[in-house]
Amino acid sequence: ELMKIGIDKIGFATSDLYLDMVDLANARQEDPNKYLIGIGQAKMAVIRPTQDVVTMAATAAKRIISEEDKKNISYVIFATESGIDNSKSAAVYLADLLGILPNVRTIEVKQACYGATAALQLAKGYIALNPESKVLVIGADNARYGIKTPGEPTQGGGAIAMLVSSNPKILELENPTAAYAENIMDFWRPLGHSKALVDGKYSSGIYLDFLRNVWDEQFKKTGFKLQDYGALLFHLPYTKMGLKGLRQILQDASVDDSTRLTREFEYARQFNREVGNLYTGSLYLSFLSLIVNSDSIRSGQRIGLFSYGSGAQAEFFTGILQPNYQEGLAGVDYQSILNKRQAVSVSEYEKFFESHIFDIENIELDYQEDNSDFLLMGVQDYKRKY
Ligand code: CAA
Repeated sequence: ELMKIGIDKIGFATSDLYLDMVDLANARQEDPNKYLIGIGQAKMAVIRPTQDVVTMAATAAKRIISEEDKKNISYVIFATESGIDNSKSAAVYLADLLGILPNVRTIEVKQACYGATAALQLAKGYIALNPESKVLVIGADNARYGIKTPGEPTQGGGAIAMLVSSNPKILELENPTAAYAENIMDFWRPLGHSKALVDGKYSSGIYLDFLRNVWDEQFKKTGFKLQDYGALLFHLPYTKMGLKGLRQILQDASVDDSTRLTREFEYARQFNREVGNLYTGSLYLSFLSLIVNSDSIRSGQRIGLFSYGSGAQAEFFTGILQPNYQEGLAGVDYQSILNKRQAVSVSEYEKFFESHIFDIENIELDYQEDNSDFLLMGVQDYKRKY
């Protein structure tokens, strides 16, 4: 019998602050329903300057990893497109904060929002050769387009942490998978820019083209039809994007299975609606949202996952939900974490947005108001202090 490999535990962290999308719509003189329905976002995480991908990843990981896990983690793969250094990986800071140094490999991977999927697939191969080991996979980002840009309502931020192992508690990853890449300028962030550049409408079209491509490729390889899936999950830069993807798949298919899959999609976008874009983490936040919120999904069912990263790279892959998958959540109540967040005004959000630090020699941050377990305290001689 083949060894099962996959997601053993999953954790999530975001900011303790959010902006209500109705307030943002009013400030930008847009109809609130454009954001709530047209874009599909209700709230957006507002990241404090004392938080970055490292601190958010540390909080997410701390929620799931035990002392026993720490002994077995031999690889930390950190996916982000909000890197804090051009050379040094975020993973080595993270491993330090979590206390999993020194007998470990620590690297960062990048391909826009696809990065965490690359990390997950790398981890799968690594576990196949090292079945006793565990890999800590991170997808963490702070999505920044800029104040008063079209992308503004699709910002957000947070971190997903996944422990990948043999005999996983949550999701067994299957083979084969379907990948597709093309050199495309739909969304990018040139060196030195702290905000993404994007051709918004074009990027949404490319997302759908790539989805059709990998869906068809996966069908050719596996013969899986709509009825073979318990749920379909999508990269959610904003939740309407995933709905467009689901509608395209349903339209292309001859079988009408829309009620069942649409219901699961609604569970799967619940958390993303309240947090916004996590870039690398978005698909996995949607997975978390599904397994926390759905009362109809069952162990043994196949989940299909569509990962998309601008630039562009896509992959469609599948996994089987394991018995007792809820145990892999480590007892964390994410709805209450989200409910406890504090709302900020549009002007406070703008202030937080502008006060993030990039390429600065010396600064001490005021971290008194940030109650997080992990804090960016400042920069000294261009060295970040946590
Ligand atoms: N009530 C209900 N719906 C309304 C409405 C109202 N009053 N007013 C407008 N809408 C609808 C529109 O009909 C439209 O729906 P459809 O897309 O289904 O046609 C939707 O609201 C958005 O309206 P617009 O198209 O006019 O919005 P916009 O021009 O301001 O741009 C956007 C929207 C392109 C998504 C922009 O926010 C953007 O550029 N975002 C960033 C790019 C992005 O997320 N791209 C996704 C693919 S790339 C990727 O996935 C990688 C990544 O993470 C970035």
